[in-house]
Amino acid sequence: MTLQQAIAGRRSIRRFLPTDVPEDKVLRVLESARLCQSAKNRQPWRFLVVRGERRRQLAQLMLDWAEAHPDIPSSSGYTARVIRQAPVLILVFCEKDDMWRDADYLSIGGAMEHMCLTAHAEGLGALWIRDTVYAEVALRQAAGYPDMDLAGAMALGYPAENPPMRPRLPLEELLLPAPPEPRREVRPAFWVMGREGSTEDGEGFVRRLWDEAQAGFAEIEPLILHDASGRPAGVWGCMSSMDRRFAPWEEGFTRGLYLAGAECPADAQPPSGWTKWQVPGFEYLVFPGGRPEAFSLALAYLRGNGLSLCGAQQDHTDAATGQNEMYFPVRRL
Ligand SMILES: Cc1cc2nc3c(=O)[nH]c(=O)nc-3n(C[C@H](O)[C@H](O)[C@H](O)COP(=O)(O)O)c2cc1C
Repeated sequence: MTLQQAIAGRRSIRRFLPTDVPEDKVLRVLESARLCQSAKNRQPWRFLVVRGERRRQLAQLMLDWAEAHPDIPSSSGYTARVIRQAPVLILVFCEKDDMWRDADYLSIGGAMEHMCLTAHAEGLGALWIRDTVYAEVALRQAAGYPDMDLAGAMALGYPAENPPMRPRLPLEELLLPAPPEPRREVRPAFWVMGREGSTEDGEGFVRRLWDEAQAGFAEIEPLILHDASGRPAGVWGCMSSMDRRFAPWEEGFTRGLYLAGAECPADAQPPSGWTKWQVPGFEYLVFPGGRPEAFSLALAYLRGNGLSLCGAQQDHTDAATGQNEMYFPVRRL
């Protein structure tokens, strides 16, 4: 059997023949765990092979736990019944070490996968078990190692079932999209006419400003800049610190001014109820917006590339496509 065949053909086995498993097969399963890699080569795994009546007692502890806790949903009782029919149970222990616990458990996971694959290659069936967690204290005591962590267990035997492959997600769903790469844009000062508000106006104030701007748009329509097809040249959600110096919003981006509007010429006179801002010239890093996590992704990118914000972020919406972009100033012109 090739490694690829073992990986593709292995299944979790939950029904076993009563036939006992020869000792040499069990040792080969354990040997494959011994050869596994581990964090800092700590080899944190320790194994206790349990057969016969002792194994049934451990399964009973898991069943007892499930019966004593009908209000806690768990598969402890279900897995206990699997253990009852498997001729061999291997308990996998780990020395207690809070500092290394994550790495040790990852290492033990690797070793247990080695064991599952080797069992399959040996013609055995295996079930990787973590349901030991519920009755862990009782299991550790009954097994004789009360002071070690019980990382899990493995039921082992000749399979009495041949289940089909359980569903797996397609690879495309597992691949995360590459985070967006920003483009650089140098933008001289520009003017925006719109409805102004501040974080002091309470939750949802940005949404309200946009609603107002849209409702009264006819009032400023003749005053703003248009592109060749007659649409607003730029729809901007502008931001500034409270002192109007276009520093980033303060107090963790929770305090500042906002202007919901459209780009206009320098000499445009805002009608009553409207405000005009001159956004200073900056070099920006421009990120695609629209996703809820876009802001924190952009900040993480800046941090990761040794850049810092030198002004407030501005949001641009393309009037033709509705596409939103976030402008993060990195240099004042
Ligand atoms: C860390 C881990 C813990 C598991 N614990 C249990 C368990 O306690 N009881 C059980 O029936 N199956 C357990 N399984 C088996 C999984 O349910 C099984 O791997 C999954 O459903 C995929 O099926 P397959 O192994 O046949 O491909 C565990 C598997 C892993 C990797």
